[in-house]
Amino acid sequence: MEATSQDSPRTGVLFVCLGNICRSPLAEGVFRQLVEDAGLTQAFDIDSAGTGAWHVGERPDGRMALVAERHGITLDGRARQIEPEDLDRFDYLIAMDRDNLRVLERMADARASECEVRLLRSFDADAGEEDVPDPYYGGASGFENVYVMVRSACEAMLRQIRA
Ligand code: 4NP
Repeated sequence: MEATSQDSPRTGVLFVCLGNICRSPLAEGVFRQLVEDAGLTQAFDIDSAGTGAWHVGERPDGRMALVAERHGITLDGRARQIEPEDLDRFDYLIAMDRDNLRVLERMADARASECEVRLLRSFDADAGEEDVPDPYYGGASGFENVYVMVRSACEAMLRQIRA
C-alpha cells in the first residue's frame, strides 16, 4: 500500500518541568497549537511531564490555565511524573530550566538514550541558554512572563525541527 503521512514515524516531543502543572503543560499546549496551525498534527506526538511527583493527577495550575485561555489555548490533561520509558517514546526531551535538564541528562545517560535533551530557551536565539523561571510562588505577572518566553521559544523550536 502506498505510504501516507500517517505511516511515517511521528516526532516525539516531551516538555518537562518540576511539577507538570505550570510551565510544561503550557509549553505542550502552545507547541500543540503551533503544530496544528502548521497542519502538522499527524507528524508529532506531544506530551509533558514533571521531574517531581507532588502534583501527579492534578489539573494544570489555575493561574497558568487562565493566562493560556487569554491566548486562546486550553490546558487539559493531568500531571504525571516522567518515567524511564519516556526516553524510548520521545525524540526530544525539552527542559524548562537547568535543574530539570540535569535530571533528564542523568536519566538519558542511565538508559543510553539517543533522545535530544535540550533547554527550551536554547532554541530561542534571543534568549541564549536561560531558564523559564518557576512561576509557582510568584505573582500573576510571572505567569504572563512564562507565556511570552514559552511562545517565542516554541516558535523557534518548531522552525528548527522542521528545517
Ligand atoms: P512547574 O511549577 O514546575 O512549572 O509545574 C511548579 C509547580 C509546583 C511546585 C514547583 C513548581 N511545587 O513546589 O509544588
